[in-house]
Amino acid sequence: MRFHARAPGKVILLGEHFVVHGNPALSAALDRGVEAVAEESNEDIVISRALGAECPIARPTPSLTPLCLSLRQLLGDRSWNGVKVILETAIPVSAGLGSSAASAVAALVAVAARFGGHLNGDELYEYAMVSERAVHGNPSGVDVYVAINGGLVYFKGKKRRQVVPYKRFPIMVSCTGIERNTGELIARVAEFRRKAPDLFRTWATSSERLVEDCVKALEEGRMDVVAESMNFHQQALKAMGVSTPELDALVREARGAGFAGAKLTGAGGGGCIIGLHTGADYQAALDAFRAKRPNSFLSYVPSEGVSSWSTQS
Ligand code: PMV
Repeated sequence: MRFHARAPGKVILLGEHFVVHGNPALSAALDRGVEAVAEESNEDIVISRALGAECPIARPTPSLTPLCLSLRQLLGDRSWNGVKVILETAIPVSAGLGSSAASAVAALVAVAARFGGHLNGDELYEYAMVSERAVHGNPSGVDVYVAINGGLVYFKGKKRRQVVPYKRFPIMVSCTGIERNTGELIARVAEFRRKAPDLFRTWATSSERLVEDCVKALEEGRMDVVAESMNFHQQALKAMGVSTPELDALVREARGAGFAGAKLTGAGGGGCIIGLHTGADYQAALDAFRAKRPNSFLSYVPSEGVSSWSTQS
């Protein structure tokens, strides 16, 4: 038997970085993510096609260390051994789209199923957070929460809830192709906060109010409010030093192509932007944009969380 699990990637609509400092964020699952397949094996090993890496879970390569730490903890706690995990990812890695959290969540669910076990939502969250902490010391947990639960999520510390939008809507994602290190970018924002505490507090407070306003706006279908809030956040993120000329250019082009709101998503420093089109002709806008920026796609919000199934090998 082969045990499959698929977990979605994510975008952050509003509030990245501020969420690390206790403020809220709004995040949405992507309609693409990571699939893990677990099967019986003599050795505990992981293979990631996207990373071009293969290693024993007990002796991971650097790129697979975070994931292997999560798996090692699960296998040790349950005294399980004898599993091969293969990961296939449909989202770019190190691009701010939550691939590490989706990999951990999908792999943990597939491995538990391989041994006839089950992890409840809290257990899954805690095991996946082992990997996220290894990726960057102080994760908010929003990536893992969205990979497990899917949907459109309001996230503030332990306060987490699903937001039900007035109707499903598309988000455009466009990637620079530049990989970056979330930990370094989090440190940059912490440094900004240390140097300019009053300014940081003003922006964090504004961000919090805008996130709260946007929850209502999304529920009522007032997408123009969300678009304007995205633009505010882009300015604040840029001023805190986590945007880049490539991201700024993508944001400018996306707005020029008709996406009323556009901003970087995730930690910044490279990675991707998102664009929100508030009219009906978003497909035409995407086509025109993609002619120049082929590394772009539309994803529908909300999308589902982790799912699992099995097949005969
Ligand atoms: O690793 P990324 O790019 O998905 O960043 C996640 C967003 C941050 O707010 C910067 C970090 C976090 O843990 O919330």
